[in-house]
Amino acid sequence: MRRDKNCGEIRETDIGSSISIAGWVFRRRDHGGLIFIDLRDRSGLCQIVFSPDIAGDAHTKAHDLRAEYVIAVSGEIRKRPEGTENPNIPTGMAELYVNKLEVLNEASPLPYNMEEAADAGEALRLKHRYLDLRRPEMQQNLIMRHRISKVMRDYLDEKGFLEIETPMLTKSTPEGARDYLVPSRLNPGHFYALPQSPQLFKQILMVAGMEKYFQIVKCFRDEDLRADRQPEFTQVDLEMSFVDRENVLSLMEGMMKKLFKDVMNIDVETPFQRLSFHESMERFGNDKPDLRFGLELKDMADLALKGTFKVFLDAINNRGMVKAINGKGMAALSRKEIDMLTAEAQSFGAKGLAWIKVKNGFESPIAKFFPEDVLKKMAERLEAKEGDLMMFVADKPKVTYDVLSRMRLALGERLNLIKPGYKFAWILDFPLLEWDEEESRFQAMHHPFTSPMDDDIEKMLSGNINDKDMLSSLKAKAYDIVLNGYEIGGGSIRIHRQDVQKKMFEVLDISEEDAKMKFGFLLDALQYGAPPHGGIALGLDRLVMIMVGATSIRDVIAFPKTQKAFCMMSGAPSTVEPKQLKELHIKTDVPVE
Ligand code: AMO
Ligand code: AMP
Repeated sequence: MRRDKNCGEIRETDIGSSISIAGWVFRRRDHGGLIFIDLRDRSGLCQIVFSPDIAGDAHTKAHDLRAEYVIAVSGEIRKRPEGTENPNIPTGMAELYVNKLEVLNEASPLPYNMEEAADAGEALRLKHRYLDLRRPEMQQNLIMRHRISKVMRDYLDEKGFLEIETPMLTKSTPEGARDYLVPSRLNPGHFYALPQSPQLFKQILMVAGMEKYFQIVKCFRDEDLRADRQPEFTQVDLEMSFVDRENVLSLMEGMMKKLFKDVMNIDVETPFQRLSFHESMERFGNDKPDLRFGLELKDMADLALKGTFKVFLDAINNRGMVKAINGKGMAALSRKEIDMLTAEAQSFGAKGLAWIKVKNGFESPIAKFFPEDVLKKMAERLEAKEGDLMMFVADKPKVTYDVLSRMRLALGERLNLIKPGYKFAWILDFPLLEWDEEESRFQAMHHPFTSPMDDDIEKMLSGNINDKDMLSSLKAKAYDIVLNGYEIGGGSIRIHRQDVQKKMFEVLDISEEDAKMKFGFLLDALQYGAPPHGGIALGLDRLVMIMVGATSIRDVIAFPKTQKAFCMMSGAPSTVEPKQLKELHIKTDVPVE
């Protein structure tokens, strides 16, 4: 078997030469005398022709070729006859006339038609992932993923970063999801946790004097899955010593600029837009705003207070808020369509959706509760013009933000407002702590090793740990990087001072023993000359998903899991032999079939 070229590389300049290629049978058309086959390999398709006049036995054998047979052929590249060229593919001007055919392998009848794979249903495609990955779109996704990793790896290497591996069998890390546990046979009753991130180890590498670390690394989190979440996913994880926030931000901006230029020939504007967490919530209702379109949220509380609509007044009196967005041109909606919008808002958690049409004045069941000049001010604030629809949600902040941010995204899509392109942003000035209503205590918004802002360090150290207002006001030296409405990364400058770390645990109500048990090895390390340090981790799967234009991260992961964290192809997770459980001293209370 000889292979001179890849299928997708045959060009007009090859016409007249004798060439061998190999690949999979994609399509076969039997035209009585001539048999045409589209032969496919990773590089693309090439048309090959079997003619009884050129090679009788190859032509005879070609009758038996079926979809996805693996073959090698040799023959002469000829110009396609006039009128039969295919300008849609790069090889469309030429074809290979076979004089020798070798069948390298046969394929069983396929579980679905490869040409209609997109309609085959994801479950079936995931089960036969090896077939699914043969599709050009999937191959492109993985090729892009490879390029993206390569460019980032080279960039970090140039900047003096060392790629260092950290353990997979480790202790629980503080990223906040559930751990995947691995029982230890040699230490009965003891468990490793798979890392939710290399957080503790990378900080220890800084104490160890490595100065600049990175790793493209699997992380494991047992959490509810969505289109942009997998139980095992990949981070481009890094940490640097002797840096402050600006160093990390500009390193990442440089990386994104190079990445988009090298991989997609797109010029990304730097520095990225910066928004405080507070501003992002106020304007977009979430901390990962899609900045490719407007439709911003506006606060209406002051105007609501000038009217008598009970729903609004009750919400405000209940420590809630009234916010609104402007549906451009949506005043034309019928009552029924508005009811559907209301139902959509309710499915996002709203109690209802109040609305005012700007249409020959103001048209709305709630217009009567507001003086004309207040209605005008509402319209002004929302920049609502004749033909627009003002939509209001009144509720607790969490619900109001959540509903309107989701309405904003849904309408952005429906009204075709989302411009193509890539809009990065940094979200900064996160609160250091987040009040957990259920547990009635503070949680770290990022993780417990995140440093407060410089001005807030003294405030925290000298403050009372029961001063809820003071604690709520503390800001973290944390940052998230957002692209087109996705959080593609997050990080922080860490606490390197022991007194600050100790106070942080106090504030979080983590006892000394607890801290020792959970992160004792990091705390130990921090006593022996920890340099100031900080870092960030990018979600590689999400970034690749956005760059290739996929809608699910499953499309950029070779072997992904379903929403139920199941691998359709391998059948993992599965039950194990009772003997294995016994060795591990594990009993389950689930009957094993
Ligand atoms: P964080 O928890 O924000 O930070 O994770 C970093 C990035 O990883 C991606 N990500 C995920 N992608 C797919 N599936 C998941 N289940 C998933 N979970 C997270 C996101 C996220 O922004 N140790 C810190 C980083 C640091 O402080 O340096 C960390 O893990 O894109
Ligand atoms: P009601 O007073 O329940 O008849 O509601 C009057 C209008 O206010 C309807 O359009 C409801 O959808 C809307 N509405 C009800 N509750 C809320 C809320 N919390 N926020 C915004 N609009 C609401």
